[in-house]
Formats: sequence, C-alpha cells, structure tokens
Amino acid sequence: MKILVLNGPNLNLLGTREPEIYGHETLADIEDAMRADHPQVELEFRQSNSEAELITWIGDTRGTYDGIIINPAALTHTSLGLCDALKAVADAVPAIEVHLSNTHKREEIRHKSITASACVGQIMGFQGFGYILALRALVNQING
Ligand code: DQA
Repeated sequence: MKILVLNGPNLNLLGTREPEIYGHETLADIEDAMRADHPQVELEFRQSNSEAELITWIGDTRGTYDGIIINPAALTHTSLGLCDALKAVADAVPAIEVHLSNTHKREEIRHKSITASACVGQIMGFQGFGYILALRALVNQING
C-alpha cells in the first residue's frame, strides 16, 4: 500500500511556528511517528508552499498511490483548485484531510473547508497525533 502525505503552505515551519497552536513537533517528527505506527505502508512525504505544485502532485496520484493524507493548511479555506484535484482522483485515490488545530475553535475564516467535500473524512485538533489517526483511518478505508 502506497500513501502520499501532502502538507501545504508554512507547514515546513512546524516546530517553531506558533507552537501553542500547532505543537512542538516538526514535520520530520510527524513523518517518523507515522512510519513507526505503520511500517508496512509505503509513505511518501511532501510539503509545498505552492498551490500549483500540490494540485499537480494530486493529479498525478492515479495508478501510483492508494490514498492521500492532506493538510492543505491555509489553502483549506481558499482553494477550489485543490478541491477539484482531489475530486478528480477520488474514485481511485481516497483522501483524508487533517489539521493540527481545531479550526472551528479559531477565527471564523478558518471554519469553512473548501477541500473537505472532496475527502472521505476530516481529523482535526490533535496536533501531530492527528496524522497517525488519519493514517489508521485511511488504511482501514482502503482495505474496505
Ligand atoms: C492548519 C489550519 C489552517 O487554518 C492554517 O492556515 C494552517 C494549519 C492546521 O493544521 O491546523 O496553516 O491546516
């Protein structure tokens, strides 16, 4: 099983970026924890600050990946293009959306996710552990 883990803008700064909201774990720490939780799953980890790059990566998943875990970061609230890309492959490559923070407890502009409707489900509010929950849920989903 091959899963693509995508992280959007500014998530490369995890660890030092507003740790009171996002926690102290870096993206590399989260990656290590996911690999330890599911050593049998092939995980490909990528981060980009570019919406276009994320859209291209999603569009290329068909036939190569079995699922996507995505934290679209700020693009969650703005990107119809990302939503369309996820929908375009959803029949073959199911996605789960993850957020470190509970966006519903934050500013109103963060309450709406444009991308969530293209995903099987959404996990938020558990900081880095949410990625592990998303991985467990996605493996379960793929295995039917
Ligand atoms: C985030 C929440 C977004 O609102 C924010 O723009 C992020 C991170 C999260 O993981 O909590 O960059 O996706």
